[in-house]
Amino acid sequence: MQTHEIRNRFIQHFVKAGHTEVPSASLVLDDPNLLFVNAGMVPFKPYFLGHQTPEFNTATSIQKCVRTLDIEEVGITTRHNTFFQMAGNFSFGDYFKEGAIKHAWSLLTGSIEDGGFGIPAEKLWVTVYLDDDEAHDIWANKVGVPEDHIQRRGMADNYWSMGVPGPCGPCSEIFYDRGPEYGVDGGPEADEDRYIEIWNLVFMQNERGEGTGKDSFEILGPLPKQNIDTGMGIERVAFLLQGVDNVYETDLLRPVINAAEELTGSTYNANHADDIRFRVIADHSRTGLMLMLDGVTPSNSDRGYILRRLLRRIVRSARLLGAKGEVLDRLIGVAAETMTPSYPEIADNWERIRRVAVAEEKAFTKTLAAGEELFAQAATKAKSEGKTILSGHDAFTLHDTHGFPIDLTIEMAEEAGLTIDRAEFDREMAEQRARAKADSQAKKKSHTDLHVYREFIDNNPTVFTGYDRLADESTVVGIVSGGEKTSSASEGEEVELILDRTPLYAESGGQMADRGRIVTADGAIVDINDVQKVGKKLWLHKGIVTAGEFAAGVAAEAQVDEKWRHGARQAHTATHLIHAALREVLGQTATQAGSMNKPGYLRFDFKYGEQLTADQLRQIEEITNEAVDRDWAVNTTEMPLEEAKAAGAMALFSENYGDVVRVVEIGGPFSMELCGGTHVAHSSQIGPVSVLGEASVGSGVRRIEAYSGLDSFRYLTTERLLAERLATEFKAPSAELPDRIAALADKLKAAEKQLADLKAGQLLANAASHLDSARTIGDVTYLGLNLPAGTGMKDIRSLATDLSKRLADRPSVVALIADGGQKVPFVVAVSDQAVDKGVKAGNLVKLMGEKVGGKGGGKPSMAQGSGSDASGIEAALAAIESELA
Ligand code: SER
Repeated sequence: MQTHEIRNRFIQHFVKAGHTEVPSASLVLDDPNLLFVNAGMVPFKPYFLGHQTPEFNTATSIQKCVRTLDIEEVGITTRHNTFFQMAGNFSFGDYFKEGAIKHAWSLLTGSIEDGGFGIPAEKLWVTVYLDDDEAHDIWANKVGVPEDHIQRRGMADNYWSMGVPGPCGPCSEIFYDRGPEYGVDGGPEADEDRYIEIWNLVFMQNERGEGTGKDSFEILGPLPKQNIDTGMGIERVAFLLQGVDNVYETDLLRPVINAAEELTGSTYNANHADDIRFRVIADHSRTGLMLMLDGVTPSNSDRGYILRRLLRRIVRSARLLGAKGEVLDRLIGVAAETMTPSYPEIADNWERIRRVAVAEEKAFTKTLAAGEELFAQAATKAKSEGKTILSGHDAFTLHDTHGFPIDLTIEMAEEAGLTIDRAEFDREMAEQRARAKADSQAKKKSHTDLHVYREFIDNNPTVFTGYDRLADESTVVGIVSGGEKTSSASEGEEVELILDRTPLYAESGGQMADRGRIVTADGAIVDINDVQKVGKKLWLHKGIVTAGEFAAGVAAEAQVDEKWRHGARQAHTATHLIHAALREVLGQTATQAGSMNKPGYLRFDFKYGEQLTADQLRQIEEITNEAVDRDWAVNTTEMPLEEAKAAGAMALFSENYGDVVRVVEIGGPFSMELCGGTHVAHSSQIGPVSVLGEASVGSGVRRIEAYSGLDSFRYLTTERLLAERLATEFKAPSAELPDRIAALADKLKAAEKQLADLKAGQLLANAASHLDSARTIGDVTYLGLNLPAGTGMKDIRSLATDLSKRLADRPSVVALIADGGQKVPFVVAVSDQAVDKGVKAGNLVKLMGEKVGGKGGGKPSMAQGSGSDASGIEAALAAIESELA
């Protein structure tokens, strides 16, 4: 049964039973605890916790999931996959244990004709939580699973939580017995290779608190309702139903391996080391594809870094298998073909994905080239010092600074007859890991500290009134100081104030937080310099008490700094206009990747593979300012998400189901975006917008920057004054400046050339005087000179020819070298009589090259070379002397 069909059967089974089908959420959700969505229930978390009420009581979905905790493990066994699809059914206070168990059982064991998976009941085993007699009895008495196929297991196996505070509960898992050829008898308790877990039914009934691991955390208490969250691994069911040994042999991954065989010339299932590489390629190609589909682009941090690692591991693995040219286009292309039946949106996005992947491969190929050069230097150094071990520090630098993978370093070292000081390398890696861990622990701490705000999030979510007003009467419901809740705060203290309602905008959607003040009737004041949201519901007003004292419960007025807000509105609306203009000029695939705006300034990141031309930038600026000039009304409307999508509103990829969204529309179809920001009422209120330029911010993503309003005006004035000053300086109208400057640059170049020629002439004119420095070594006349700094190769060669001619009547050697700035050029000329005696210029330049970090070669009578280390010049000349002696 093909994977796509397994998906369909799952959804149909639950839709028939009255569940609402919910599409997979993006892999990238706005949750600080999660790098990527890693379970089917993640988008439903607010429903389980009772923070939001769903529009349905039961739902079913097939959620894209990515888990990247141990990328290094991928491929070593056939069990780990970084991407997988979790099929689930969910009940929010509707059915509970019995419903969940019966639904799962009837799908698994139902006949193929009736839409089931047709798995014989005797192949299935189930587990329940230690004291969950209720689940046990349902399996035994209502479903009829024999007692010896039911096992009780502890917290680590049969109590599910997200690993962090959130919903949790005991669970019951269903296993498939692959038969005695895969392991020992005795059920999942005995062997989880033979008995494969396919479905986890979680009886979501409690909320967990802080804690570590799978079994040591506090249970805070029951959830508002008893819920069901189940997860069936589509990939696992696929390999079992397709009768193959593991996930890599299924219809989704095997084609990628086949393509890799063709590209590399190696064969899968020939040896273990190669098999790991094939599996890395298959797994990562698919995960990379799905991450790029959801808008992730390669970068050096967070999600982008994971993607970068995955893509680079594919390229490296393919190279180690023997691939010569570029591979990502083809490999990810095959992954795209296998995934498109289930994810038709891949087709629309393929061009963008391909561009990102190809650009990343090009960048990595350059890194590899740079790394290879560095490796060569390190290897030469080690050898010249008579060592056979490459220092672990060099290997670490290659890895850390140049992203050069250690196994490639090892392999290249082997080819060069060297080994690597692995202990030293591992030590440096361990130190680096410790640094990273300390860093991530520091970050985690800032999450766990959120418990201070928990009761406010639950009991006093902030009401935002700032769309309509700039000042509002409110009550200080809480004060947090130094991470602790406190009842009062006095002058000089840094605080976070929580109000029941506020007109101050909290940083979100790219718009920076409002500045403002919170004041009481007794004259107490907090100057607000930042406003942040926690848990999407609570506004934290951060600032310093500049007068009087604040106590929890007191009435206060919150005031937005009007000038700040005016500028913020201008910049945010300008951002929407630039976004719309950009898509008009670059096409619809130039989608948003991020943005930031604050009074007077904005930047907008978007997916695009190439540098923008000056003409494209000018067009974007023109269209934007035309939109300002049209004085369009800026309309904001609230509507259901589906309606907004149908109307064509653009959105960033994080979604929240069932939400009412705010749509900001300017000029009808010109610009329509989901946005919670503050905007001007009419486009003309933005004032002029000046585009400053654009640049790359990671492969496939570019950034455009602009000024808005008065800042734009000031920028234009500064530019104009600059042009005026230059015009005065050049005594020419500004329109003529580019030509004037170009002419001046030409003149300067000509003058520089003249000067160089003069210098060379002088060098030759003085040639005769250098002859005085000639010395006799044995029966050879030797003239070695360190010429003035800046002398180039051409002049050195002329001088060498000239001097050698003057000494042609005897056995003579002329060696010239100079510090040329970037390089150290050197030349050796040998007279015929000396050549007859066996002196060879080619050999002598090699000696010089060794001293100045370079190479050289040529004929016996004349040879030249160039190095990079001027500190070796004297040693180079000395080397020739001692050779002649
Ligand atoms: N949340 C559970 C899991 O991830 C079941 O969906 O296994």
